[in-house]
Amino acid sequence: MSRRVEGKKALITGAAQGIGAASALALAREGARILLTDLNSDGAPETAERINRVVGAPVAFAMRQGVTVQSDWIEAVENAGTLLGGLSVLVNNAGVATVGSVEDLTLDEWRRGMSVNADSVFLGCKFALPALRENQPGSIINVSSIAGLIASHNFASYNASKAAVWLLSKSVALHCARQGWNIRCNSIHPTFIQTPILKALVGNRDEATVMEKLRRQVPLGRLGDADDVANAVVYLASDESSFMTGAEIKLDGGISAM
Ligand SMILES: NC(=O)c1ccc[n+]([C@@H]2O[C@H](COP(=O)([O-])OP(=O)(O)OC[C@H]3O[C@@H](n4cnc5c(N)ncnc54)[C@H](O)[C@@H]3O)[C@@H](O)[C@H]2O)c1
Repeated sequence: MSRRVEGKKALITGAAQGIGAASALALAREGARILLTDLNSDGAPETAERINRVVGAPVAFAMRQGVTVQSDWIEAVENAGTLLGGLSVLVNNAGVATVGSVEDLTLDEWRRGMSVNADSVFLGCKFALPALRENQPGSIINVSSIAGLIASHNFASYNASKAAVWLLSKSVALHCARQGWNIRCNSIHPTFIQTPILKALVGNRDEATVMEKLRRQVPLGRLGDADDVANAVVYLASDESSFMTGAEIKLDGGISAM
């Protein structure tokens, strides 16, 4: 039986841990070759080695990449060509949680959120498209957030950056369609997923109390797992989603239905 993303060649940013690592493993299990990139130059190769042990074949590779740096993107796409034999899936996953209201944040803090969360996706799409064109059908998967669709008082930069990713994804999707390329672009919008990024929300409060407070906000009554997002990444990377472009998948346990 053929696997769901057999033969796909995927680059995933922010893949040392959390949602990126879970997505890399899920894609590898379904037959893809993966280039994991991250600022964390120890974590990314460790995760790639773990994936190769789990799937029993050398399908995962790793490199250090800062997603806000143009030259790093050029190198990452070149490496995908060398290590994977091309690029057919791009997962723009790296991100940071910048907590603060419009009054709390300094201009530098605002810009950091916008840069890591939104500039990165612009750069990724821009520099990956030539390689994706050579390996159609292609799929770009941008990890936004439910916070890109629903605002909070203390998430000014995060809300704005993730909303930028939402509409940028649609613009990229329409650009590719207009060019006649079989390259799709969609966004994923998770709510609270149990990964290290949630630490930013805890601050100096008791972690268990904060997690319980977050959990109570979710109609399904639980926080999400990284695998909940990885499952959507596999679907969007696969040809099962071949008629889906410029769309958004909400993984929020029902929050936005209220
Ligand atoms: N966990 C959640 O609750 C949640 C909810 C909605 C959206 N998201 C989004 O999911 C994505 C993944 O988050 P996660 O929960 O796995 O977080 P995480 O903190 O566990 O992982 C993020 C990874 O991105 C890397 N990274 C950060 N800045 C980088 C940069 N400039 N260049 C390259 N790599 C960089 C980090 O080193 C880390 O490995 C993010 O875009 C995040 O905003 C997460």
